[in-house]
Formats: sequence, C-alpha cells, structure tokens
Amino acid sequence: MIRKCLFPAAGYGTRFLPATKSMPKEMLPLVNKPLIQYGVEEALAAGINGMAIVTGRGKRAIEDHFDISYELEHQIAGTSKEAALKDIRHLINVCTFSYTRQVEMKGLGHAILTGETLIGNEPFAVLLADDYCVTESGEDPVLLQMVKLYQKYRCSIVAIEEVPHDETSKYGVIGGVEEAPGVYRVRQMVEKPDPADAPSNLAIIGRYILTPDIFDILRVTPPGRNGELQITDALMTQATYGRVLGFKFKGRRFDCGSVEGFIDATNYAYQHIYKRK
Ligand code: UTP
Repeated sequence: MIRKCLFPAAGYGTRFLPATKSMPKEMLPLVNKPLIQYGVEEALAAGINGMAIVTGRGKRAIEDHFDISYELEHQIAGTSKEAALKDIRHLINVCTFSYTRQVEMKGLGHAILTGETLIGNEPFAVLLADDYCVTESGEDPVLLQMVKLYQKYRCSIVAIEEVPHDETSKYGVIGGVEEAPGVYRVRQMVEKPDPADAPSNLAIIGRYILTPDIFDILRVTPPGRNGELQITDALMTQATYGRVLGFKFKGRRFDCGSVEGFIDATNYAYQHIYKRK
C-alpha cells in the first residue's frame, strides 16, 4: 500500500567538503556501499519498490549507480569480481528509479514538494539516506516498522528518538501525548529549538510516512527557520487539522551527515556487515 519512497538528495553536504564538491553526499560509502544504497535496501525491505529520488546539480553519480555499467560488467564478466555487483544488480532488477531535480535548495520541505511529480496522490515514505538505521537481527528494519504502523493508523508518521537535551537545536523536535507504547500523538513540532524552548527531547530523524495532503500544505507554508521551507512546519499544520504520530522506532541511528556519526557508522558497517559477508 506504500508503494513509493522519496529520497531527498539535493542538499550540498557542506560538512563533508571538499569530498562533496563534485560527489553527492549520498554516494559516500560505508566501507564499500554508498549511503543511498543502504537506504534503497531498507525501502525494499519495507515492501516498497518505487524509488523516487530528488537530486540536484552534481548528483548524476546517483543515477549512474542505479544503472548498468556495460563496460565495467563486460570487463569483469566471468571473474570472481562479479559477485561484488550482485546486490546492486538485484536492486536494479526489482526496483524502478525515477528522478527529478530540485533547482534551488530551499530546504527539506521544498525538496519533498519537488518530489510530488514522482509520487502523485498516494501515501509515501521519505528516507534521508544520511541517517543510517540498523536493527538487531530478527527485528524489522525501521521503515518496515513504520509501514506496519501506517497500516494501523493511516496518517503521517515521523520516526523519533530521544536525544540529549542540549542537542535539540540540531533537530526537529516534537511534543505530544503517548497514545500507545512508543507512539506519540503530535501536539507540537519545532524546528531546531534551543534546549530552553524544546517541547521535549524527542527528535525527528530521517524516516517519514506522509499522506499526500502534505503537498497542498507545503504549497502554502511560508519559509521557516533559516528561510527554508520546513517539513516540520507543514507537519505541524497537518497535526493541527488531522493526526500526525511520532514513533519511537526500535533500532539504532547513525547521523552520517556529521563526520563523527559517519565514522561510527563506518566502523559498525565494517564489523557487522562487511566482515561477516
Ligand atoms: P541537511 O540538513 O543534512 O543538509 O539535509 P545537507 O545540505 O545535505 O548537508 P550539510 O548540512 O550542508 O552538510 C537533510 C536532507 O535533506 C536533503 C539533503 O540532501 C539531506 O538528505 N535536502 C536538504 C534537499 O534535498 N534539499 C534541500 O534544499 C535541503
């Protein structure tokens, strides 16, 4: 029922300059696999096979990654090296990839609105590939947890986690009432609040399920913090007129948009994925 996942991937990734000068942040690898491929795999594990990617200038490597490289494949055909392309070939076979470009980087809300042309009038997932999420073996991946919750509640859902109080200014933060274990009905939503103004320490991370009325709301939402169109402002409107849930997912998130988080995620992927293959 959730058929498409939107990947806003147009940001400049300034924290990784100069690496991101001509290479998309989403193509930075955790060992040997780019961040966005982990994201696509998580979406597929949630039963989604329509990958809708919002790119921008300098992001063509993403399109090339999810396509066949004839010359390379011809070169390594019949050798042991072919095995290294098995996973990506599978994704190319079972998913469809569509792209649109955000011409001006006016914020995450604007990137999501830019993706409307790829999504249409249906509920959809949003995955920020720079948040890398992992779960214990046997546990559902984070996006699958959210799709299952959507099947029950049929409203927009944001993934949340508790962060240290003095770090609220890095996140969108919700305030709300816990309706079921780990499920909060959102009453407040503030983008990057100072700790003194934060309604809680429940921070939004890069996984969302959104109902398509969000596009009409985004269209009339004025620019917010930093002059950018904020998805949190639009979600606050949606929460006022309808229902938005915050979901404390099971699992662990690495903020790969920051250098420290990226290093931690790299070590994790090396120990738990790469070495175990
Ligand atoms: P970030 O706030 O991490 O910004 O965006 P950034 O540009 O990627 O990185 P820094 O802060 O300069 O290092 C969060 C997500 O929203 C997307 C980004 O690609 C990232 O996945 N985004 C942000 C867009 O697609 N368009 C925008 O205008 C802004």
